[in-house]
Amino acid sequence: MSKRRSKQKLPPPPSSPVVAGLVGPMRTVPTSVPRPDYAATGNPGSRTSRAIRTPDEIDAMRIAGRVAADALIEVGRHVRPGVSSDELDRIGHDFMVDAGAYPSTLNYRGFTKSLCTSVNEIVCHGIPDSRKLADGDIVNVDVTAFIEGVHGDTSATFLVGDVDEESAQLVERTRAAMHAGISVVRPNARIFEIGRAIEESVAPFGYGVVREFIGHGIGDQFHTSLQIPHYYDPHNDTVLLPGMTFTIEPMINRGSHRLEMWNDGWTVSTRDMQRSAQFEHTILVTETGFDLLTIPAEGPPAEELFADVRLGLQTTP
Ligand code: MF3
Ligand code: CO
Ligand code: CO
Repeated sequence: MSKRRSKQKLPPPPSSPVVAGLVGPMRTVPTSVPRPDYAATGNPGSRTSRAIRTPDEIDAMRIAGRVAADALIEVGRHVRPGVSSDELDRIGHDFMVDAGAYPSTLNYRGFTKSLCTSVNEIVCHGIPDSRKLADGDIVNVDVTAFIEGVHGDTSATFLVGDVDEESAQLVERTRAAMHAGISVVRPNARIFEIGRAIEESVAPFGYGVVREFIGHGIGDQFHTSLQIPHYYDPHNDTVLLPGMTFTIEPMINRGSHRLEMWNDGWTVSTRDMQRSAQFEHTILVTETGFDLLTIPAEGPPAEELFADVRLGLQTTP
């Protein structure tokens, strides 16, 4: 038998391309809510923060992580066909502000909203706008809260109404990929093990692992210099040490890993218009392994609460 095979073609994406809506005015935060330095200027400055956090900072990060996780659940409860991403932004904004937190994305490098909402082929940094979610969409909601002087960053991809099985599988496998990455975190592990585990976990499905956007150190700064690729990068052999805090937030594409940027300078799309999913937690390296810092006050996190009942949760280590 000949080894030549015709180039495998993916079926067309199950929905028409996302079209931008109108972006409403920036929401305000009462002056009683403490804000990060960049809130006034839009400029976070350079990534100078230490990689290892103090015990007090870690306590504070559990609070910031809890607010972000609870806000993500509150937003998730409102995801349904017909709701605009700007309405989700309002819900997340009000939740954080009521909890005494500043929505970290607000005026971060000039971003004008309190969440990122990334629908279907949008990979990350979607700007909440007047576009209404449609039956069959998938939407990633990314929430970051600043409180007690530190940030907590978490995201989940939600199913809108009746979602086709291929898309639901992409979402579930992305959730599992995030956990595959998290599960290798322990003292003395090397950073490249995280991306290697994520890549191995999605390899059987032929998905693309996004390379241009990576996980990051987090603490008193939203993004520190610590870099966490979601693909195998043997050069990133930095050793993990107790007290390090960073995000793991793989973006996994149904097709190619290649990306394109919209003219708004923020919205990132897959180049081939295939769908993309993402999940994110903020992680602490402990003496023996890891802790998730972005867990809700009670009950399961958004990624479990809103998981597709048809598929169930696949292998959470
Ligand atoms: N929350 C995103 C992350 O996971 C960052 C959003 S920055 C913004 O790192 F400016 F786009 F809001
Ligand atoms: Co992040
Ligand atoms: Co985030």
